[in-house]
Amino acid sequence: MAVERTFSILKPDATERNLTGAINAMIEKAGLRIVAQKRVRITKPQAEQFYGVHKARPFFGELVEFMTSGPVVVQVLEGEGAIAKYRDVMGATDPSKAADGTIRKVHAKSIGENSVHGSDSPENAVIEINQFFSGNEIVG
Ligand code: RTP
Ligand code: MG
Repeated sequence: MAVERTFSILKPDATERNLTGAINAMIEKAGLRIVAQKRVRITKPQAEQFYGVHKARPFFGELVEFMTSGPVVVQVLEGEGAIAKYRDVMGATDPSKAADGTIRKVHAKSIGENSVHGSDSPENAVIEINQFFSGNEIVG
C-alpha cells in the first residue's frame, strides 16, 4: 500500500478537555506520523467552506457553530494507507456505534461533538490539507 497523507482536526471538544496529547498518542500508536500540526481558531467562513458538502443537512448550523466555538488542532498525518487507517483509528461518527479502542469510542462526547475529523478520500485529503497548510509547513 502507498504512503499517503490525510488531514485531521482535533475538534473543540477535544482541546477544551486538554486531550491533544492523549489523542496524538493514539494516532502515533497506530503508526501514523504527524508531519504538520498547528492550533488555530477556525472562522465561520472557513468552517462553512470546509463542511460545505453538508450545507443542506439539518445539523449544518450546529456543526459550524461547534467547529468555531473554540480552538482546534489541524494536522497532516502520513503513513501507509493513512486515509483509511485514520478513519479506522477515529471510529464511527456516532461514538455509541464506534468500535472499542477508537478515538471516538474513548473520547467523543456525542455524534456532534466527536473529537476528531479525518479526510474521507484522497481527493478530499488534498483539498483539506491545502485549505489549512502551505507546502513548507509539512515536514515528512
Ligand atoms: P468528519 O467529516 O468530521 O470526519 O466526520 P464523519 O465523516 O465521520 O461524519 P460526517 O457525516 O462527514 O459529518 C460531519 C460531522 O458533522 C457532525 N454531525 N452531526 N447531529 C448529527 O446528527 C450529526 N451528524 C454529523 C459531526 O461532528 C460529524 O463528524
Ligand atoms: Mg466527513
